[in-house]
Amino acid sequence: MKLLIRNALLIHPEKDFEEKKDIFIENGIIKDIGENLKIDDLQEIIDGEGKIIVPSLTDIHTHLREPGFEWKENLLSGSMSAVAGGFTSIACMPNTSPPLDQRSSIEYIYKRSQEIGLVNIYPIGTITKEREGKELSEMGDMYSAGVVGFSDDGDCVMNSEILRCALEYSKMFNTPIIEHCEDTNLTQEGSINWGKTATILGLKGMPWTAEASIVARDIFLAQLTGGKLHIAHVSCWQSIEMIKWAKKYGIKVTCEVTPHHLILTEDYVKETNYDPDTKVNPPLRTKEDQEALWKALEEDIIDAIVSDHAPHHQDDKLKEYNLAEFGISGLETIIPLIITYGHLSRKLNLSKLLKKISYNPSKILNIPYIPLEKGNIANLTVIDLKKEKVVNPLEFFSKGKNTPFKGWRLRGWPVLTIVKGKIVFKEGKIINVQGI
Ligand code: DOR
Repeated sequence: MKLLIRNALLIHPEKDFEEKKDIFIENGIIKDIGENLKIDDLQEIIDGEGKIIVPSLTDIHTHLREPGFEWKENLLSGSMSAVAGGFTSIACMPNTSPPLDQRSSIEYIYKRSQEIGLVNIYPIGTITKEREGKELSEMGDMYSAGVVGFSDDGDCVMNSEILRCALEYSKMFNTPIIEHCEDTNLTQEGSINWGKTATILGLKGMPWTAEASIVARDIFLAQLTGGKLHIAHVSCWQSIEMIKWAKKYGIKVTCEVTPHHLILTEDYVKETNYDPDTKVNPPLRTKEDQEALWKALEEDIIDAIVSDHAPHHQDDKLKEYNLAEFGISGLETIIPLIITYGHLSRKLNLSKLLKKISYNPSKILNIPYIPLEKGNIANLTVIDLKKEKVVNPLEFFSKGKNTPFKGWRLRGWPVLTIVKGKIVFKEGKIINVQGI
C-alpha cells in the first residue's frame, strides 16, 4: 500500500496543535509528513482539502452485548460500527450475560476481537461478582488478563464499603474504577429527568440528586483511599461542581460526557412525542445542565467525550416509554455530532475537542495512543468536514438502530479509518474483516 493524502489538516491532540500537510503512508507506516511530497509509484492519492486527520480515536464507553445479548449487538457488528464511526480503539462495558467478571470472559473478548481484526477492543471487567454489588470480583486476575478498568456500568455500586475496597484494591494496578453514579433508591421506575416535564408527560422522574449524591460520595471515597475514580456519563451541573471541587483538591478523578447529554434536553422527549430512542440513563436533563456540560468541556473539567453506545433491538425499544430499555446506539454518530455541534456551531477548537475522544480517554484507561509522526504505524481517521449527510439508522453497521438523531443532517463524517496500518473502513464500506 502506497497512499498519499495531500494537504489535509493534521490534528495532533496530544500537543494541542494542527498543521496543514501531506502525509505519506507505505505498508501501514507513516513514511513522511511534509509539504508538496513527491512520491513515485503511488497507488492512491487522496485530496485532503476540507479533510482532517486524527490519530487514535478512542471510545472508552461502549456496550457490545456479547456474550448473551447477541441479537442486540455482537463483537463483529460492534467492531464494524466502531470503525465506521472512525474509532481505532474502544473499551467495552461488562454488563453482558454472563457479565465480564472473570479471566475466561476477558480472554474471550481479546481472542474474538483479534479474530475479527477490525478495531482494538479493550475489555472493562466488573467491580463486583455477577455485577450484583455484593462481593468484589477477581480484579487482580482480570487485570492480569488485560482489563483496562473496572465498572458495574448500567448499575451503581450502592454499597459504599464495597466501592471503598474496590478503589483501594485497584490502586495496585493503577486502573480506574468507572462508576455509573445513580442512587437507585431515588430513581425506581423512573424513565425521564425529574421535574416539570416529567409531570406534564405523566412519567416518573429520575432526579439529578440520584447522580450528584453518588458523585459526591465517590469523590470522598477516592479522597480517602487515593484510588483512581472515573465518573461515567455526567449529566447535571451539580455533578460538575463536585468534580471541579475534587480536581481543585487533587483528588484522582476524571469524567466523561456523551454527545446526547450535550446536544439534547428533556424537551426533546416531548418534541418527539415520547420517542423511546430518547430514553437513556442518566436521562436527558435541562438546558441549564446542558450549558454547564459545554462549559465544563471547555474548562477541561470534563476529560472525555464517549458514545455510551447502547444498542438495543427494536423489540426492547418500541414500547410504551416507561417500559422501553434505556440506551442510544452512538458509535456511528458521535464524530459528526461533535463536529457539527461542538466545532461548527459552538466554534470550539478541533484539536481541543478531538483530544477528548483520542488522547485523553486513551490516557484514562492506559490504552496505546499512536501520534501522527513519521516512522509510526498509521492508526488514524480521515474526517471529511464538508461531507453532509442525514442520519439514517438503517445504514448503521451496528445492529442497534436506536438513535434519537435519526433524520438529523450532520457534517464531518469519517471517510477512512486505518487501524494499526490496515485500512478497515473506506467511503462507507468495511474492508479487510476477518474471522466472520
Ligand atoms: O442508557 C444506558 N444504557 N445507560 C446505561 O448506563 C447502560 C446502557 C445499557 O447497557 O443499555
